[in-house]
Amino acid sequence: MSDNLMKNYAPLDVGFHRGEGPWLIDEQGERYLDAVSGIAVCSLGHAHPAVTEALCEQAGMLIHTSNLYRIPHQQSLGKRLCELSGMQRVFFCNSGAEANEAAIKLARLHARARGVQRPRIVVADDSFHGRTLATLSATGNPKVQAGFEPLMEGFVRVPYGDLPAIEALDDSDIVAILVEPVQGEGGVRIPPSGYLAGIRRICDQRGWLMMVDEIQTGMCRTGQWFGFQHEQALPDVITLAKALGNGMPIGACLARGQAAELFQPGSHGSTFGGNPLACRAALAVTDVMTERKLHQHAASLGHRMLADLRTHLDDVDGVCEIRGQGLMLGIELDRPCTALVGRALENRLLINVTAERVVRLLPPLIIDEQTADEISRRVGELVKQFLTEDSDS
Ligand SMILES: Cc1ncc(COP(=O)(O)O)c(C=O)c1O
Repeated sequence: MSDNLMKNYAPLDVGFHRGEGPWLIDEQGERYLDAVSGIAVCSLGHAHPAVTEALCEQAGMLIHTSNLYRIPHQQSLGKRLCELSGMQRVFFCNSGAEANEAAIKLARLHARARGVQRPRIVVADDSFHGRTLATLSATGNPKVQAGFEPLMEGFVRVPYGDLPAIEALDDSDIVAILVEPVQGEGGVRIPPSGYLAGIRRICDQRGWLMMVDEIQTGMCRTGQWFGFQHEQALPDVITLAKALGNGMPIGACLARGQAAELFQPGSHGSTFGGNPLACRAALAVTDVMTERKLHQHAASLGHRMLADLRTHLDDVDGVCEIRGQGLMLGIELDRPCTALVGRALENRLLINVTAERVVRLLPPLIIDEQTADEISRRVGELVKQFLTEDSDS
C-alpha cells in the first residue's frame, strides 16, 4: 500500500490494468467478473468501444474551453437528457455530490422566492447524498458525518419509505424534499409502491420542490431510464452522475418549471463542469443505452437474477431478504458480511457489501443472460459457504 495517499480509503490489494465488458484484468493477467461496475458507474462495461472512440476523437480535438463560451456538446447532451427525463434545463458538474449541491442551492433560491429565510429540506434516514459538507449533512448516516461537525443546518429527517411521516411534518420553513428512488448505500432499500407519487402529491400541496437523487438509480440501472419513472411522479429536480459518463467524471442537476429558472448568470458554476470531453462521453453513453434499450434489458435481467438468487438462497438460514429493482440487487443477511468481498475477490468475482449486512450487486447493464446466471450462481454459492462456515465457527 502507498504511504503517499491519504488514508481515507481501504482498497483491496488488487490493481486492475485493463477491462473488457464485464471483465477486469489485473496486473498478472487474472480475469475478474465485475458485478459492481465501479459502484454503478461502468454500466456499459469496461472499455466500451463507442465511449473509447468518442473520447479518443474528442481528446484529439478539444478537451476544455470553460463555460465562458458556448459548448455545443453540452447543449446536445442537455437536450437529450431533458427529452429522456421530462426536465427542461441542466447544470453540468463533475460528480454526484456536486450535482446534489446544485440541487440544494436551487432549494435555497426557491426559499428566497417564497420569502422563507431559514429554509429546510426533508431528507431520509439511511440516505446517501455525498461527502461535501452540504451533502454529508443531508446524508442520513452518522458514520459519514462523524468528526465533521458542525454539520450544515437546514435538513429535517424522516424514516425512508414512510409517507405519513412526511405528511405529519408541520413546518412552514420546509421548501423541498431530497430523496433516492431506491437507497443504494443504505442497503438497496426499495420504498413501498406509491411512495414517490405520494411525495409528488405532498410537494404539490405545499409548494415544496420534489428533488430526486438519481445518482445511483439513474441511466437505466433500475429498469427505467430514471428511478422515478416507475411511478407517476415527475420531480422538479433530479440529479445524475455515476453511469452518465461510464467512468468519465460528469454530474448533472436537471430541473423543470420554476426550478429550472432559478439559476441566473453568476449564481452557480464549475470550471470543468460540462466540458467537451465529458459531454462527448455522455453522448456516446446515451446513444448506446438508447440503441440497445438498456433500461428494458436491465429490467428483464433484473427479474431473472432476482428469481435465480431466490432459488439459490431463499431457504438458507441467515438470509433475511433478497430484493432488487432492475440490476440493482441486494441480499440482506442477518449478520455483518463485509468479509464476503474478500472471499469473492479470491474467487475472481467482484461484489460489494453495503450497510454492513447487504451484499449489493450492480453488474454492468450490457451483460448477457449467461453472465447474469453465472453471477447469480457464484454469489449464491459464496453466500451459502460464508453462512455455513460462519455458523460453524
Ligand atoms: C445516491 C447517491 N448520491 C450521491 C452520491 C455521491 O456521488 P459522488 O461520489 O460522485 O460525489 C452517491 C455515491 O455513491 C450516491 O449513491
